[in-house]
Amino acid sequence: MNARSDGAGQTGSRKGGGRGAGWSGSAVQAIKDRLNIVDIVRRYVNLQQAGGNRWMGPCPFHQETKGSFSVNADEGFFYCFGCQAAGDIFDFYGRINGLDFKEALEQLAEEAGVALEARQRDPGEARARDLRREALKMHEAAKDFYRRNLESSQGRTCRDYLAGRQLDAKIVESFELGWSLGEWATLAQQLERIGFRKENGIEAGLLIRGDKGGVYDRFRSRLMFPIKNLSGQTIAFGGRIIAEADAAKYINSSDSPIYKKGDNLYGLFQARRSIAVKKAALLTEGYMDVLTLHQFGYQNACGVLGTALTPEQVKRLAGFCSDFELLFDGDGPGRKAALRACEMLLTRGLRCKVTLMPEGEDIDSLLKGGGPEMFENLRLAAPDGLTFCIRSLNEQYAPKDAIVWVKDFLGKLEQPALFSRFVSEFSKGLGFEESVLRKELQRPKGADDSGRAGGQGNSGTSGDSYGRPGWDKSRGMRGKAAPGVAVEAARGLDTDVLFLTYAVRNLHLVPTLRDQGMEFALHTPRGRALWAKLLGSNSASPEYDIFPLLDDKQKEFWVRCRTVDVPPKDEAKDALELKMICESIKRLVRDKQSVSYKQALAGLNGDDYENEFLRALSEKLTGKPLGEKQ
Ligand code: UTP
Ligand code: MN
Repeated sequence: MNARSDGAGQTGSRKGGGRGAGWSGSAVQAIKDRLNIVDIVRRYVNLQQAGGNRWMGPCPFHQETKGSFSVNADEGFFYCFGCQAAGDIFDFYGRINGLDFKEALEQLAEEAGVALEARQRDPGEARARDLRREALKMHEAAKDFYRRNLESSQGRTCRDYLAGRQLDAKIVESFELGWSLGEWATLAQQLERIGFRKENGIEAGLLIRGDKGGVYDRFRSRLMFPIKNLSGQTIAFGGRIIAEADAAKYINSSDSPIYKKGDNLYGLFQARRSIAVKKAALLTEGYMDVLTLHQFGYQNACGVLGTALTPEQVKRLAGFCSDFELLFDGDGPGRKAALRACEMLLTRGLRCKVTLMPEGEDIDSLLKGGGPEMFENLRLAAPDGLTFCIRSLNEQYAPKDAIVWVKDFLGKLEQPALFSRFVSEFSKGLGFEESVLRKELQRPKGADDSGRAGGQGNSGTSGDSYGRPGWDKSRGMRGKAAPGVAVEAARGLDTDVLFLTYAVRNLHLVPTLRDQGMEFALHTPRGRALWAKLLGSNSASPEYDIFPLLDDKQKEFWVRCRTVDVPPKDEAKDALELKMICESIKRLVRDKQSVSYKQALAGLNGDDYENEFLRALSEKLTGKPLGEKQ
């Protein structure tokens, strides 16, 4: 065995394959035993029995009216014949709720009444879990307290403020707005009264210890916006000042055991059904704007909460839809934020449009002042994300800075198929020769790229979160170099993941890939093992044929490939993608052949995998394995 693929494998199983090691396998099985996948899916999909223990319904993961979505209760597996989404109860629950595996596991464990042993055995973990529980309860109590304040006689000023802003009672209710009292420690007292410890209140971020040791409330005299997770639990607050005062307009919860700034979106809990139905989301910047949008019937709106859109937020949203509309301020910072958000969405293969508010207006003032018609006209005139990027680059960037921006953008692409399209659109839009831009992109950004090109698959960079496949697919497509370059120059694990992701998503193309020499383009034993299984099927429904043959890690990879970030079908793009993949395979095989032959001829000792490859190559070309006596 060679050290490289072995090491990567361990990384994969420890982090990426969080199901195996981080969590006790028995908990996963116990949850599967106790919860019926059909019961879970039924909460979101109208299922009809289709014989035996198989159920069918309209797929929640792509737009359709007929029922292509099948659930097999015996196998505990779902599969969509339309969009090829597939997986088990954790995949379904995570994807429909925009959760990663760890979160899906935790929530389903709670529901099934299964303890997650691996976590409990570690006392530090146990304490952290208790803290999280406590923090959630305290936030719930605080939210209720703030709501009661708003209704009480002490909430008069705040009620007047809300009325002045024409906010419907319905919205105040559904977003559970509240009011924090002006005194120093009313929440602190309330939490203590119902049995919470002040120390924990401080850790939860609701209370603050002052310089002299006294404990007081973080939020005072503020209109309170509860921030919720996807289960509807309150995990943080934003608080707006409503009187003229020499203080920050908003105070937000700091990070706590249950909240990390940038991980959540304001209003996503209230918006998620609408987003799932409309297959589109409106993204805006402020608390008030989200409320106003909902009040005017745009129930698929949520807010990024005063930060730039983050990768975590995008991941969360992409679980619901692929179509986004950015509604940002028209001022300098708003434009900048919109450009960053566009980049984030487009590089992940998502679609977006950008609507900028006229100078001096925000959504709230526009809808309430100008009216919905004016807002609709703005939306209609909104450019798509790519056009917006090109426009911004032309208007605000010097050509050389624009190139840097584009280079950076292309380096972030997660799907190589997008590369060609973006290169040509950007060169057209910015007035560069496409070939010049392409050449520019071939130049490595820095010396650090050479390490990667050497194929060090096991640099410890993989698997930053749970739920990644055993093969960390993110690295294959998010390398430092542009993917066009990555596809051509990166080696080993990266291209294996790339090609196999493509193959698993496009099983009908397996014969085509085989004819291009796929087997010889794959570097790792694990990659070739999966490929061998993919080659094994020749039936009309390869997914049912192959899936049972896969081992756990391969299944995980398979399911991830077919459920996470699957690009929507598009004939033109698909053809381009196939062409690119085929070219990369051919080029890799060609490069390999010449390098390997040179090595073989010079009698050099490559590492094990090179030798293994040489053997295979030699066998293919000469009919005899390398090193075997002639
Ligand atoms: P805005 O200043 O546009 O506020 O900030 P807003 O939401 O439109 O509120 P109104 O209409 O004036 O009442 C946009 C967002 O930026 C964050 C908040 O999330 C806010 O909703 N922000 C703003 C802060 O976090 N802190 C601040 O001091 C200001
Ligand atoms: Mn506003």
